[in-house]
Amino acid sequence: MRTLEHLFKNNRDWVARMQKGQPGFFADLARQQSPRYLWIGCSDSRVPANEIVGLRPGELFVHRNVANVVVHTDFNCLSVIQYAIEVLGVRDVIVCGHYGCGGVATAVGRPGNGLIDNWLRHVRDVYTRHRHGLDAVSGSDAMLDRLCELNVIEQVRTVCGTTILQDAWGRGQSVSVHGWVYNIQDGLLRDLGPCITGPDEVESLCDAAAQNALAGQG
Ligand code: CO
Repeated sequence: MRTLEHLFKNNRDWVARMQKGQPGFFADLARQQSPRYLWIGCSDSRVPANEIVGLRPGELFVHRNVANVVVHTDFNCLSVIQYAIEVLGVRDVIVCGHYGCGGVATAVGRPGNGLIDNWLRHVRDVYTRHRHGLDAVSGSDAMLDRLCELNVIEQVRTVCGTTILQDAWGRGQSVSVHGWVYNIQDGLLRDLGPCITGPDEVESLCDAAAQNALAGQG
């Protein structure tokens, strides 16, 4: 017995709507995808990548995990970045975090959550790196907001340090890396500042964005 019948009904309704809006939509899309953007975001169900930037199927290549973390040994994420840049030729990589991120809060909360504490250790490392500035922020909610922003900025730094971005820039491919944060309270995105177009900009722009975040202007 199919117990999730309502989802299949939703799917059929969605197909009908899409076909009505643009006849042949799926046939056209099946031929190829050529998204301009790669989105690296949190798995949180309240942050649906395509929807919040108004993009349709075929326009956004997506990788999501808990707390939008990019790790140099995560072959899942690295494979997505490599395919996006080397095969699909995306021009913009967007790392997007969000306020109220449970992963970020857990990273600086009590340990004892099992496996996920290892994953979130990377966010904890961001906290440690910026501890001096974060400890000066008054209010735990405000501190977590700043940490959400700094986590994005540090993941941008990591994306830029991968062999994939370094090689792309080295051969003259035009790719920019952006750091954004999404507010689940009002649905709005904020640009945290870094828009990195080459290896020489990484440290200076990420450091400046981190300083702005800690100054409350992120
Ligand atoms: Co999250």
